[in-house]
Amino acid sequence: MSTHADATKLRLTGVTKSFFTPRTGTTTLAVAEMSLDIQAGEFICIVGPSGCGKSTVLNMIAGLDSPSSGRIEKDGQGITGPGADRGVMFQDYALMPWQSVEGNVGFGLRHGTPGQHLNASQRQERIAHHIDLVGLRGSEHKYPHQLSGGMRQRVALARLLANGPDILLLDEPLGALDAQTRLILQAELLRIWGETAPVSERKTAIFITHDIEEAVLLADRVVVMSTNPGRVREVVTVDLPRPRAGTARTNPKFGLFVEHIWSLIRDEAYRAIGGAASADPASHQATH
Ligand SMILES: Nc1ncnc2c1ncn2[C@@H]1O[C@H](COP(=O)(O)OP(=O)(O)O)[C@@H](O)[C@H]1O
Ligand SMILES: [Mg+2]
Repeated sequence: MSTHADATKLRLTGVTKSFFTPRTGTTTLAVAEMSLDIQAGEFICIVGPSGCGKSTVLNMIAGLDSPSSGRIEKDGQGITGPGADRGVMFQDYALMPWQSVEGNVGFGLRHGTPGQHLNASQRQERIAHHIDLVGLRGSEHKYPHQLSGGMRQRVALARLLANGPDILLLDEPLGALDAQTRLILQAELLRIWGETAPVSERKTAIFITHDIEEAVLLADRVVVMSTNPGRVREVVTVDLPRPRAGTARTNPKFGLFVEHIWSLIRDEAYRAIGGAASADPASHQATH
């Protein structure tokens, strides 16, 4: 049996998070009243100015932090803490320097819950499969310091996937990479997520980025947030056809999506860096 409601993988209802800083006695409203339903197999990107609460939202879905009020449900159940069903990946690799590629990818399988039902050879097979999947065959015995930034993020992605999560939580995972490596990994990520597979075989992905073009390339929907307090400004449905890797940027609609999202965050982005006159709403009024 399959109904529309069954496909809701994640439901955020009125999620609010405030942080109290005892040292200064101030309270920051990091996320205010965020409500969003995410369908199974959807690729969601979150964009918005620095400090608008993107990482806070992701951490709450990961179960690393909990809402001050509101509710987050996965498959209809409230989230109470971290779990192997939700894999997290950050910008800064977070690899264990004393472990090889193989050791890093296999860490959760050997030492955590994801590998408990597997025997040693099944574990090994799964590790090798994921090293292959991210294109690192031949580098199994290298250590993180012997790898480029792009290769390290491939390792982090393989480790994430090897643990078999059904939700991928990615906090600016390509943010530290050079532009070319980034383009390559965007395409790889789409392939691994399942861009060419039926929707039912895709993982649910939530991907934070500063890069609007990256968001439009990857996402089914882009959640645009604004800051102080962190709120959802608009949810933009990106109905560009898939597969997109290599072709989407030449679609005239691509630029329209980028322009629209940029128009939603432009003023705040300018203010954050000290404010160009043309970004000041008051000066807009004066010139139009
Ligand atoms: N642990 C914390 N304690 C106090 N303030 C925090 C904490 N985590 C985040 N904040 C604040 O909450 C706001 C949102 O932060 P964050 O989610 O990291 O933003 P983003 O990821 O969009 O840059 C910021 O003002 C930040 O300073
Ligand atoms: Mg962040």
